[in-house]
Amino acid sequence: RPTMENVQNITPQIAWVGGSDRRLALFENLFPLENGVTYNAWLIKDEKTALIDTVDASVTHQFFASLETALDGRGLDYLVVSHMEPDHCANIGELCRRWPQVQLVGNKMTFQLIRQFHDVDIEGRCIEVQEGQELSLGRHNLRFVMAPMVHWPEVMFTYETTENILFAADAFGTFGGASGNLFSDEVDYAGLYLDEARRYYTNIVGKFGPQVLAAMKKLDGLSPAMICSLHGPVLRGEAIPLLLDKYAHWAAYKPEKQGVVLAYASMYGNTEAVAHKLAALLAEKGVEDLRMYDVSKTHYSEIIAQVFKYSHLVLASPTYNLHLYCPMDTLVRDLAALNVQNRDVAIIGNGSWAPSAHTTLQKMVEEDMKDMRLLAPPMLVRSTLKPEQLPELEALAEKLAASVKEKQ
Ligand code: FEO
Repeated sequence: RPTMENVQNITPQIAWVGGSDRRLALFENLFPLENGVTYNAWLIKDEKTALIDTVDASVTHQFFASLETALDGRGLDYLVVSHMEPDHCANIGELCRRWPQVQLVGNKMTFQLIRQFHDVDIEGRCIEVQEGQELSLGRHNLRFVMAPMVHWPEVMFTYETTENILFAADAFGTFGGASGNLFSDEVDYAGLYLDEARRYYTNIVGKFGPQVLAAMKKLDGLSPAMICSLHGPVLRGEAIPLLLDKYAHWAAYKPEKQGVVLAYASMYGNTEAVAHKLAALLAEKGVEDLRMYDVSKTHYSEIIAQVFKYSHLVLASPTYNLHLYCPMDTLVRDLAALNVQNRDVAIIGNGSWAPSAHTTLQKMVEEDMKDMRLLAPPMLVRSTLKPEQLPELEALAEKLAASVKEKQ
């Protein structure tokens, strides 16, 4: 694509040299993007010059144009590699060819992964850093904070101690392309980005809650003036405590809010009708802000984000191939893979012959996931909900409504 530089300063000596890709349909070839994604990279110009990360291959040309412009003829002394996922590291090989003197700053695992991903000779140019080690650039000073498994093993935050800027790798990131307003307090962050920050975190980092809490503990006592994530706006002002609070919930698998997510699968509308009836009963009983999703229509990453947000979950599925309807199977397996836990659950299974969705869901929720509380035995529907089953559905709605209100 034709491109030009697009350097934006975040402080007089620190420039954004990243880019946005709004053409990408699926992040990681998995997650639908409504409005693209940013790949952030930062250049600190001091007595020494240091680049924090490179970018995805899709914005390579803009990145190099911006980097050349920002360097304005100076050399590049350091590349700090926060982690080796290719959306930030696609250009390490080319960077080393263009600036042969650049030294790579990372940890032992970083260098192993660079060798795995890139056909470039990095011997003699690796600075292996340890927890708490510092690197002075002149006025600016970088302190390295290891954040293993947030969400790759070699993840490393960089804290710039003079201007109090946390370079947080993927942490605190979000989907969504840059708008020109680089800072969260120049946009309606909560309105424009928070839902996507939740979807980003829960689906990409969600499995590693304990490791996220451990990394956040290392930040105790620091008061960053800005948090620079590799995706999304620079956090400044209100967005910092907002995101720290959200991360404390998400990483501990604590719901943000009492409420019910109803995720249903339905081939011909019969299971859907049961889900709608249950939703109406819940609303009648005073449950507000119900979130209802057809798993065939709504991408599982959206539903997973809502499951992290709310306290209660209803799963309803027909039996399919003596197991589960495929999109429901994907949703529940991924919830388990992401370590979703500590939720109150209700299950409805449908089957016209050899029904098993109800017991399959129960097994997956109780055996593959931790601390999930079934509020009632799974409800079995045979093809269609019969009037004589309405009291059972009503009782289920009552239990759900009472449980939601109990903790409010
Ligand atoms: Fe945005 Fe872990 O890469």
